[in-house]
Amino acid sequence: PTDAVRDRLGRPLHDLRISVLDRCNLRCGYCMPADSLQGQGIFLPKESLLTDAEIVHLVRAFTRLGVHKLRLTGGEPLLRPGLVSLVKRLACIDGIDDLALTTNGILLPRHAAALKEAGLHRLTVSLDSLDEAVFAQMSGGRGSAAEVMAGIEAARQAGFGSLKINTVVQRGVNEDQVLDLVGHFRGSGHVVRMIEFMDVGHSNNWAASQVVPSDELRARIHQRWPLEPVQRQSASAPARRWRFLDGQGEVGFISSVSEPFCGTCTRARLAADGTFYSCLFASHGTLLRPIVRGETDTQRLVDYLSGLWSGREDRYSEIRGTQATVDPRVEMYRMGG
Ligand code: GTP
Ligand code: 5AD
Ligand code: SF4
Ligand code: SF4
Repeated sequence: PTDAVRDRLGRPLHDLRISVLDRCNLRCGYCMPADSLQGQGIFLPKESLLTDAEIVHLVRAFTRLGVHKLRLTGGEPLLRPGLVSLVKRLACIDGIDDLALTTNGILLPRHAAALKEAGLHRLTVSLDSLDEAVFAQMSGGRGSAAEVMAGIEAARQAGFGSLKINTVVQRGVNEDQVLDLVGHFRGSGHVVRMIEFMDVGHSNNWAASQVVPSDELRARIHQRWPLEPVQRQSASAPARRWRFLDGQGEVGFISSVSEPFCGTCTRARLAADGTFYSCLFASHGTLLRPIVRGETDTQRLVDYLSGLWSGREDRYSEIRGTQATVDPRVEMYRMGG
């Protein structure tokens, strides 16, 4: 990158996570609880979404600063009209060597083949339980585990090899589903990653007592199927990896609460309206839409973004619970996971 940049804590910028839409067809209680949405125009109006061209222009600028990994998120990204053509444009940007997408999987049977064709490299599918009653309890009664499984199968048929399956674990809700999930995907080539329930946003009624620490889950899995640690792919990867001793694949743990990983965090986030966020737990961002709209000079954008990243000093997970973290946080479905 010609204008590589580091933040105040010395962290480079490598990943950009782009939320392409804040809407979703599910209502997971840990993210978008239905009762928190009532009577408010909380979703972004269409006019305020970045256009494909604006996203592409921003990504070009970000690659000059060091971004080489893109992840499309939401909300539910597959609900964005024209997503496939956006993927096609992003896939051929110079400097991008990894293009992934996180989805709840429900719409994959409709879109997986076209996404593969468009050049998407990798898919991550969220799935919290194979049991329909528990699934419904967690998804706000929308969608089903069967639909997500059909989505996972569609991804396989479309040629996405190994998927990552993200499971948010909540104490007393789906903790007893974890062994089932792990058992189901063992040997399939897909990797289940258990995510500690996080205090993102301000409407999910997070309580520390509902977090199941990864160590505890790992011990339970290890008892059934012995595990050994695997080296992380990169120092900045949030997931800790473990492999089954019997060769049936691996599992991952994302432990933002019990074992924060801010020290190596190289991720920037862009919301669907073009707001730049330097941390998943930010209370404020910087609206880039007016800057990118009508701007054709990429260097001006590069300089502006460079200034934003240079000033970054976020490390929320490391200072959780202190006085510095009391402001209401932006919802994850708005900012992007
Ligand atoms: P790849 O390495 O690109 O495969 O993905 P990943 O391991 O970064 O995982 P992914 O992007 O699927 O992120 C999984 C989950 O980890 C997210 O949905 C978040 O819940 C959590 N996560 C990702 N990045 C961060 C981060 O910067 N901070 C915190 N606290 N959580 C994160
Ligand atoms: N805690 C942990 N993970 C969460 N996700 C959404 N909200 C939370 C939360 N409060 C996860 C989703 C999905 C990814 C985008 O982030 O399950 O896998
Ligand atoms: Fe939708 Fe994902 Fe949020 Fe669930 S976690 S409501 S699937 S965006
Ligand atoms: Fe990065 Fe913020 Fe997550 Fe820490 S809490 S890893 S700084 S996004």
